[in-house]
Amino acid sequence: MDSLIPTVNRLQDVFNTVGQDEIDLPQIVVVGSQSSGKSSVLENLVGRDFLPRGSGIVTRRPLVLQLVNEPADTEAESEAEAKPAMARAQFLHLPNKEFTDMHEVRREIERETDRLAGGNKGIVKTPIHLRITAPDVLNLTLVDLPGITKIPVGDQPADIEVQTRELVLDYISKPNSVIVAISPANVDIVNSESLKMAREVDPDGKRTVGVVTKIDLMDRGTNSLDILTGRVYPLRLGFVGVVNRSQEDTQSNKPIAESLAAEAEFFRSHPVYRTITQHCGTTNLARQLSQLLMNHIRDRLPSIKTKINALISQTEQELASYGRVATTPATGTDASRLLKLVTQFAAEFSSSIEGTGAERA
Ligand code: GDP
Ligand code: NA
Ligand code: MG
Repeated sequence: MDSLIPTVNRLQDVFNTVGQDEIDLPQIVVVGSQSSGKSSVLENLVGRDFLPRGSGIVTRRPLVLQLVNEPADTEAESEAEAKPAMARAQFLHLPNKEFTDMHEVRREIERETDRLAGGNKGIVKTPIHLRITAPDVLNLTLVDLPGITKIPVGDQPADIEVQTRELVLDYISKPNSVIVAISPANVDIVNSESLKMAREVDPDGKRTVGVVTKIDLMDRGTNSLDILTGRVYPLRLGFVGVVNRSQEDTQSNKPIAESLAAEAEFFRSHPVYRTITQHCGTTNLARQLSQLLMNHIRDRLPSIKTKINALISQTEQELASYGRVATTPATGTDASRLLKLVTQFAAEFSSSIEGTGAERA
């Protein structure tokens, strides 16, 4: 998502002037049945090991992950090479502690999950908020969710299915959510819970990307060609197939960079998948998501301008009611300057998108 970073950062700078709450920047929400590979896909997109993953129910509270881009000093950058750059992590529930070891971050997610959801498979709606600051991430919010669960286990209540569905719906029904709908390749796609739920909230498929995980675990002689090329389940923005780390890879602490390289090699050397490379691999998924985010931001610019205009006139009216002149006060001037910035940004943004030949979703 490299090319997006500077653009979105500028936009965010502009937004910060008005206060975050005023503008709904897009977030990426990962949905799917339990153990379909949601946490694995998210980790691959961020390029760091920090999420609890594994068989059975592992993610038991929503994790709202805010990525914050902060440019590195140039010295550190030249040493970086293939390793991910240094990242700092901070939890909302531990405001005075900063983590630099991502394994510690994972342990803290586990501790904080157990604290509210207990040690026996319970699920809690209250999210964990985590912020990761690094030079190589995009200012973006990603949400990892508990899986859609059918049958209660451990401390889970009898209506666990209703509860997990409601939890997922809370996040994916927001129009600013880009839905990453995950289906494992070894389960029939027509039974995919994530695609069913995505269709409920996004019937036109404008903000749903289909992801097929576990392509490496399919029966010999079968493949996902028809699914990935849209011949089985129609999805406007299409499907991407990925290969994440296996349970064994997790146990042996296989580094993310190694797993991404192995994934690329898997698709490149496969007789079928190498003919549909645009539908394969984490890199393509990241590319498609950044394209979607671009379109999303562009589509939102007019309504952002409308909001700011409303803010200006509201300020002016308030000031007028105090019997002061509307054009001179500081607040009115701030809002006008902001509108000018956004208008200028919109123009630059449109021309940069046209320049790269981006298509409208
Ligand atoms: P979640 O419950 O949906 O978040 O799923 P996880 O990301 O925790 O993954 C569940 C299990 O499936 C883990 O043991 C992963 O290592 C494994 N897994 C996920 N994706 C793949 C994949 O593409 N290939 C293989 N072989 N294993 C995978
Ligand atoms: Na799991
Ligand atoms: Mg998970």
